[in-house]
Amino acid sequence: MKNFQNKIVWITGASAGIGEEMARQLNQKGATIILSARRKEALEKVQQSLPFPEKSYVMTIDMEAPTTFTDKVKEVIQKFGKIDLLFLNAGISQRSYAAQTDISVDRRLMEINYFGPVALTKILLPFLQKQTESNIAVNSSLAGKFGFYERSAYSASKFALHGFFESLRLEEAEHNVNVNMLCAIGIKTGISQNALDGNGKPFAKTSAMQEEGIAVDDCVSQMVAAIENNKKEVIIGKGAQRFSTKIKEFLPELFFKMLQKRKP
Ligand SMILES: NC(=O)c1ccc[n+]([C@@H]2O[C@H](COP(=O)([O-])OP(=O)(O)OC[C@H]3O[C@@H](n4cnc5c(N)ncnc54)[C@H](OP(=O)(O)O)[C@@H]3O)[C@@H](O)[C@H]2O)c1
Repeated sequence: MKNFQNKIVWITGASAGIGEEMARQLNQKGATIILSARRKEALEKVQQSLPFPEKSYVMTIDMEAPTTFTDKVKEVIQKFGKIDLLFLNAGISQRSYAAQTDISVDRRLMEINYFGPVALTKILLPFLQKQTESNIAVNSSLAGKFGFYERSAYSASKFALHGFFESLRLEEAEHNVNVNMLCAIGIKTGISQNALDGNGKPFAKTSAMQEEGIAVDDCVSQMVAAIENNKKEVIIGKGAQRFSTKIKEFLPELFFKMLQKRKP
């Protein structure tokens, strides 16, 4: 996607954090933004803060309610006729050891982070196939490339996205549906506040990873550049985090010891 001028962009999880900032940056670049998440009031607040609020549309969505997705897709297609970029960003994290995590938490994270995006994509896909070109940008995580302490369910849900969307990228290349996998780590948002503990309750604390992390506007600028340059995958992190997938691949024993030192 070379530029965003007059493009139609649908963002899930646009009421806060990375999705909110993506809405702002792409609206500034001339795109019309469909702002989706569960909280209508928060979406309307984001809408009013956009550089060009008249080029935006609020439509609530709950990624845990896939039976509503056909109507949501119908609504955006009827209103805009096409979607140039679907930014699958809505997501929730976890802060608990696997041994202390109820299976209902694993299932909930899979519903929100994996099955929701997959179901929405399947319903939108027939429309994307008819367009000259489109992009699906998936906000995975570095936790989608390797497991980490207190992230067993989160990491699994993000790994699953890679399996699905890498297959989809191959299958849909003939329809010019491009897939960008965005793998960030430690971005200063409310993600750890909103994360679930082992019993499914809000963690409600700011993790060190977020406190010491990258500013959200910096992260989003890197994501925008990755979409503009049609990168198949991008890692967004600080220092050695950027090379972590290479270290894992070539020096797996060293990598394991490095991660062990990050025990919370
Ligand atoms: N922050 C990081 O360090 C980091 C690193 C790598 C990847 N990511 C990924 O980035 C994405 C955005 O996270 P963030 O850091 O911006 O966190 P955030 O500030 O907590 O924002 C999460 C967004 O997802 C929405 N959301 C949550 N559950 C939803 C549901 N059931 N249906 C629809 N929307 C839902 C929230 O809106 P409502 O509450 O209004 O529904 C909110 O807009 C996530 O997929 C996360 O995994 C974050």
